[in-house]
Amino acid sequence: MLDVRAYRSWGVLALSAVVVQIILGGWVSTNYAALACSDFPLCHGRWLPDMEFYSAFTLHRELGMDASGNLLSLQALTAIHWTHRLWAVAVLLLVGTAAFKLARLRGLCVWGMFLGVLLLVQLGLGISNILFSLPLALAVAHNAGAALLLATLVVINFRLFNMR
Ligand code: HEM
Repeated sequence: MLDVRAYRSWGVLALSAVVVQIILGGWVSTNYAALACSDFPLCHGRWLPDMEFYSAFTLHRELGMDASGNLLSLQALTAIHWTHRLWAVAVLLLVGTAAFKLARLRGLCVWGMFLGVLLLVQLGLGISNILFSLPLALAVAHNAGAALLLATLVVINFRLFNMR
């Protein structure tokens, strides 16, 4: 008999990873950090650029300012942007593994394949946003891709938790 519990764990992990990535992405655009690194895959020509995480992730502050009212530094904007990129790697591993496993599960294989394709499209859109300096159409598409990824994972989890 099929042990559906392992699939459920992967479904929950993938959904959680995407929720975190959506929060990080919202933080990027809210803080106008979209173009804080304009090169890819490096950022300012380095894998590990100069970054300042404390003011980047201080939640109670004016937009664009650090807690003492100074403009957010380039290092803080870089930290916000870079964290969204780094978490994208975790999303690729977790959602990619979930998609691969689901694609081999009877009853959910189409959803698994759809999830895998959606993941690759969304990663491609994120990278294109940087390479083409954030054209409006690509920024909107990246937003729509995130919503579709979230909705797909909610449906997959619903199906998994109703499966015996
Ligand atoms: C599956 C992975 C990803 C998800 C779910 C995701 C999700 C999001 C979301 C929800 C936003 C906020 C959009 C807005 O508020 O308008 C965002 C912004 C952004 N993401 Fe991603 N993202 C992913 C991967 C990536 C990758 C791989 C890159 C680049 C290497 C990237 C680059 C960006 C940039 C530059 C923005 C700012 C866009 C703007 O200000 O409109 N994303 N992301």
